[in-house]
Amino acid sequence: MPLRPVLQFPDPRLKRASKPVAKITDEIRALAQDMLEVMYDEPGIGLAAPQVGESLRLIVMDTTWTEEGSERSPIVVVNPEIVEREGEITWTEGCLSVPDFQAEVERAARVRVRGLDLEGHAYEEEAEELRAVCFQHEIDHLDGILFIDRISRLKRSLYVQKRKKALRRESEEGQGTSAPSGRAL
Ligand code: NI
Repeated sequence: MPLRPVLQFPDPRLKRASKPVAKITDEIRALAQDMLEVMYDEPGIGLAAPQVGESLRLIVMDTTWTEEGSERSPIVVVNPEIVEREGEITWTEGCLSVPDFQAEVERAARVRVRGLDLEGHAYEEEAEELRAVCFQHEIDHLDGILFIDRISRLKRSLYVQKRKKALRRESEEGQGTSAPSGRAL
């Protein structure tokens, strides 16, 4: 089976708020598995279900793996919520759904996240730095928010112009988009 494609800006499905997962079924477990495969293949360090066209509150992350072959330590969080946030951090973010762009975003430096794992057990984690940024970025996806919604209007409009041009060029040349650079979330 081919991997699920990652939706890219300005796909309107990325702007929708996702529904909570009502029950953790085999379908949900299969979706999480598909998402992990897509994330490692792209490669990225986080992925949210709406990025593969499923309007559900489900994220996957692995903030420690590298392509050079370090061990994988994936997590899947169902219905994740940030219940505490503390401090401030500025991080240069990218996103598999926002091709060819990175920008600094201000986030909380530390967060506490609660949700469920795929067995339906409570999941709770305190995260900081990159991992805190990644949780906030992925949970934003569940609310239809992209990192470019958190940068200045000027920077965003410059990106939107650039993206429109690239899409026009692609449709003229009939080519796919280039892969994102860096560690995309
Ligand atoms: Ni993203």
